[in-house]
Amino acid sequence: MTTIDATMSAVIESALRAAIRAPSVHNTQPWRFVTGPSHVELHLDRDRILAVADPDSREARLSCGAALFTLWLALRAGGRGAVVDLLPDTDRPDFLATVRITGERAASPELDTLAAAIDRRITNRRPFAQRAVPAPDRWALVRAAESEGGQLLLLDDPRGLGALAVLLRRADHLQEDDPDYQVELRKWTVERAGCDDGVPLSAGGPRPLGGNLLALRRYHSDDATVVRSFEQDPLVAVLATSGDTVRDQVRAGQALQRVLLTAAAAGLSASFLSQPMEVPFTRGALRQLIGGRDHPQTVLRLGYGQSLARTKRRSVAAVSDLPVHDTVVGEKESDT
Ligand SMILES: Cc1cc2nc3c(=O)[nH]c(=O)nc-3n(C[C@H](O)[C@H](O)[C@H](O)COP(=O)(O)O)c2cc1C
Repeated sequence: MTTIDATMSAVIESALRAAIRAPSVHNTQPWRFVTGPSHVELHLDRDRILAVADPDSREARLSCGAALFTLWLALRAGGRGAVVDLLPDTDRPDFLATVRITGERAASPELDTLAAAIDRRITNRRPFAQRAVPAPDRWALVRAAESEGGQLLLLDDPRGLGALAVLLRRADHLQEDDPDYQVELRKWTVERAGCDDGVPLSAGGPRPLGGNLLALRRYHSDDATVVRSFEQDPLVAVLATSGDTVRDQVRAGQALQRVLLTAAAAGLSASFLSQPMEVPFTRGALRQLIGGRDHPQTVLRLGYGQSLARTKRRSVAAVSDLPVHDTVVGEKESDT
């Protein structure tokens, strides 16, 4: 193991604590960090890929991209320069990035605001308030995606939203009927109870009242039998990229996290509607729906939700080679 001086070790440990708060599909946390004297490598952890829902590891790369953005942000907000080098070794496609720490560099108010939202960002699968998201906040979300090389397409037009809802229901039905998908979902929900990964029963939402526009993924949850009415005019957005290479997928994850933190900083909650992304036919149809050129990477529902407990994470020691004195990562977080 490379020796890292104490100051740099503390800087990296603090940035890694932030990075592991990133969202990941089914809370699989498919990342592994390798540290050096003034850099951090990010690797995809192949043992944590969803073989059924995500056989190409695309969503795992998005999750890693979200952790990468958070790592970079935490370093920058901590007054360090940080330079991201994507896919530094062409022979090792799971070596996703290196973040080099380049001395001291003042943060900006915008980065400070985003960094302050890292711990507040929580996936919220519950109904949102019947309150429209104001135009300036919508544009801030669009700009956030653009600044990381993505496009966020807001489905403002009722026809577009209706067409997405049809694809969502179609993909959701296919997954509900797929026994392998169900086994995998159970593995990352009920069977992870008490673990520091997976989606806890307390994080799932209620079932939408009949006739609801959007089909949310049905996690095993404490509220699975509760039926509630959801917001009638949801803000739904498709995050897309111009290509669909490994690099594009990591970039999509960086853009995703910048959008989510921009939303959290504006007091907005978000949840994901990934089902159409995980079925090739519906992903292709969604691509046509957004114009046929860009590649959809994920779908978000945004609005005003109530605060929730954070879900657990594996410790920095468990996901990196950094010798750390871990505090209780699950503190104040959801236990089941
Ligand atoms: C690429 C990706 C896809 C996801 N898809 C879904 C989804 O379809 N439905 C859902 O409720 N949550 C989805 N999530 C959210 C994760 O389940 C969530 O990030 C994880 O459980 C950790 O919880 P947290 O976001 O509250 O920290 C997705 C997250 C990522 C990064």
